[in-house]
Amino acid sequence: MRDRLRVLVAEDEETILNIIRIPLERMGFQVVTARSIAEALSKTEREGPDLAILDWVLEDGSGVALFQKLKNRYPDLLGLLITGHSATEGARQAESSGFWDFLAKPFTVTELVSKTKRSAEFLLMKKAKDRSERIARFYQRILEVTASRDLTALMKGIISLAREEGKADIASLMLVDPDDPSRFIIAAADGLPEDLVQKVVPVTEGVAGRIFEKGSGLLIAPQTLEDLKDWPLRYGGAGSALCLPLISAGRVIGLLNITRLTNPQPLTPSDWEPFELLTRRASEALTTLRALLKAACLRWIAFSSFARYTEEGDPHRKGTAERSGQLTRALADLADLPSEEVEEIVLASIARDFGMVRIPEQILKKPAPLSDEEWMLVKQHPKWSLEILDPQGAVTGPLRGGIFHHHERFGGGGYPFGLKGEEIPLSARIISVADTFDALTRPRPYRPALSHQQAVQELLRLSGQQLDPDLTQLFVTRVIPQV
Ligand SMILES: [Fe+2]
Repeated sequence: MRDRLRVLVAEDEETILNIIRIPLERMGFQVVTARSIAEALSKTEREGPDLAILDWVLEDGSGVALFQKLKNRYPDLLGLLITGHSATEGARQAESSGFWDFLAKPFTVTELVSKTKRSAEFLLMKKAKDRSERIARFYQRILEVTASRDLTALMKGIISLAREEGKADIASLMLVDPDDPSRFIIAAADGLPEDLVQKVVPVTEGVAGRIFEKGSGLLIAPQTLEDLKDWPLRYGGAGSALCLPLISAGRVIGLLNITRLTNPQPLTPSDWEPFELLTRRASEALTTLRALLKAACLRWIAFSSFARYTEEGDPHRKGTAERSGQLTRALADLADLPSEEVEEIVLASIARDFGMVRIPEQILKKPAPLSDEEWMLVKQHPKWSLEILDPQGAVTGPLRGGIFHHHERFGGGGYPFGLKGEEIPLSARIISVADTFDALTRPRPYRPALSHQQAVQELLRLSGQQLDPDLTQLFVTRVIPQV
């Protein structure tokens, strides 16, 4: 919040103007004086007053007309009307014109001080209340935006919130390149040309470089220019900007920039706190999400490489996990599930046959039908897949359900438990559809690969018996056309 309240005094008589100005300055207000409407509007164009003490008569019109003009520009402005009329008439005029109070001429300095003091107390109280309400509302939005588990959506959400809350023309997010800490990447921008996004800037360059070095933010506005003489600014005197660092574990990981160009009101120190809340929460969210994505990536690599290992040497199974994983993802993405759940289902589809490594090769490659005993062994593979992946039995949810139940049949009769319909976990039902399509479209020793059209017919035949009918429909209409 601004340290001092800004008071505009408009009065056509120079002497009265001074009589009002001097005590107000002694009270600690920042005072702007004017003798006409034109002068008052010009002097408050860049920075609005908090309180306007306006004479009824000005050189080029009335204080009431000036107040209306100012109020349109600064809706929170409080007004005191100076009137030559009686107290009763003055009160009526002030109230009907939207003034907060009035001073009837001739007034004493004590009256002036007392009324101004009361106005200032009211203003400060209102500002504090408005501010805490604004911050509470803004913080709620920050929590919503930073809950995203999608990196691009998170970054776009941060800048779109910053631009909206900052009533700004431009908001941008620069992140230190994790692979090359000597440069920023413009990760997201709202209000800038599209081709600037992904542009690279050295972390030592310009204002951003200084913020990176110092680890503290910067407000560039007419009222702060005096303090910024040492900064490498290319500021023409128009607009205002707030640049704040995103800090994680004591290191600057990025910068949030908010710029007002067309907004006549410059950003003020009071804007600092809410945006610091945003950058603090954004830093936490970005760091956490990056760690999660990295862990997911490492998990993916581990799962895929083991799947390739289990498929090695078996031409019929080679590449199955990868293909099924992709088809499973395509179907799971359509099932309106949280992204974490989709990831687990895809991992389940890759790991579902890990247990095949425990089945002797002569059974897997047997050219004749399997004996009952051999079948019993094959049916153990979902359980073995889980044992290999998770010997402690810690895995739960879609990952476990998808692996353990991927051979259940929608109409019953599958294994290991012979579950039916929605008793079968959704993850397993999704994998089953994707897996069946992959198997149908691959060649087998006893038949050639089916075309997509033939595979669709077969899927529809199996729908309800082996496969979940809703998921099959979704797969046939939405996934297969994209394959
Ligand atoms: Fe299997």
